[in-house]
Amino acid sequence: MDIVEGMPQGKALDLNQSGPVVGYEPNVVGTNGYEETAGSDIVVITSGFPRQPGMSRDDLLAKNKEIVGGVSGQVADRSPNAIVIVVTNPLDAMCHVASDVTAFPRQRVIGMAGVLDSARFRTFLAWELGVSARDVTGFVLGGHGDTMVPVVSYSNVAGVPITQKIAADRLEEIVQRTRDGGAEVVKLLQKGSAFYAPAAATAEMVDSIVLDQGRVLPCAALCQGEFGIDGLFVGVPVKLGRNGIEEIIEIELEQGEQEQLKKSAAAVEELVSAMADL
Ligand code: 2OP
Repeated sequence: MDIVEGMPQGKALDLNQSGPVVGYEPNVVGTNGYEETAGSDIVVITSGFPRQPGMSRDDLLAKNKEIVGGVSGQVADRSPNAIVIVVTNPLDAMCHVASDVTAFPRQRVIGMAGVLDSARFRTFLAWELGVSARDVTGFVLGGHGDTMVPVVSYSNVAGVPITQKIAADRLEEIVQRTRDGGAEVVKLLQKGSAFYAPAAATAEMVDSIVLDQGRVLPCAALCQGEFGIDGLFVGVPVKLGRNGIEEIIEIELEQGEQEQLKKSAAAVEELVSAMADL
């Protein structure tokens, strides 16, 4: 669904025509209204303005608050039992908007960011070591912004801690490139932001819910005391299944990482407070 006339219909037609080749039935519907979305099991909200070069995700706050608020209201009316995955930036703040407007329980409002940021981290680690990205485990917690926390202590290649394979100063560069991962793409594209990796990350979350896989993935979730964070959407490891967030999995972090996570939660809190004044 999109407000631009013809665009969703054109995309749907294009997607349907790849069905016979890729192996699915051509049943995709594109629309400019919400009627066709009624009774959805899962709704992915990507509506809003993307970043332009030089903009931070937070610069989008006012405009996207209005858009995501409007969309969330329509979703709640027509699909009261849906699980909502928010993708719009600034991600953590937009999760608050969707959560407030829909009044859905915390199991059913989830932000997509950690899977994407972790995929970037894993890509850079795999390149550094010249190994398959499939064998690199690494995840990123915290807000989806400059304060995100790539968790080095739990990152490994085929079980071997990454700290044994990459020198600390080089690792710090990779961590920083991960934090700047979205901006690096925006700068190259000059128009619009990353597309394929965010879509792949979202699809992985949707699969885990629809197929009840119970994957443990880093997602923005409303913390209620977990990791010492209360009342804020922050990226944490969650188990995703048919009911949405089935568990927030608390892990022990190193002291430095814990402090970074606190700092990241404080940055989210600041954005949420700024939103209240808009
Ligand atoms: C990114 O990091 C769009 O926020 C998204 O690329």
